[in-house]
Amino acid sequence: MTFMEWTDEFSVGVPEIDADHQQLLKHINDLHEAVEREAGGEVLDKVFDALPLYVSYHFAHEEGLFLRTKYPGYAKHRRAHLALRNTVTEVHSEFQSGSREVLPQQVLEFLKTWLYEHILVADQAFGAYLAANRIAL
Ligand SMILES: [Fe+2]
Ligand SMILES: [Fe+2]
Repeated sequence: MTFMEWTDEFSVGVPEIDADHQQLLKHINDLHEAVEREAGGEVLDKVFDALPLYVSYHFAHEEGLFLRTKYPGYAKHRRAHLALRNTVTEVHSEFQSGSREVLPQQVLEFLKTWLYEHILVADQAFGAYLAANRIAL
């Protein structure tokens, strides 16, 4: 079973954001798959490296759109992004330092919950703002 399944309920109504989210889910699924098959350190490092990069890219992408469309929820949404980015960075560096106290499975479960909630509430609120104000990207 796929760890994070994309369904239409996650659509924020903005194709370029939906495409990012699908890609993000793919990175998380790749990581999950590597963890499940107990991939060696190198494989795990590779997928673990790709995720923070993509998270940073995606957050910057959304924040750019917020600015461009004068989204009033910008500051609050950006704070949520920053908090998650800090957590990912911490977990990533602990993992790189060889600490096995960070269990990949727990990290994945945390990310899954965070992402689903964030998309369904914060990201969809931005989609609703665009729709309500008839702003086309
Ligand atoms: Fe997002
Ligand atoms: Fe977001």
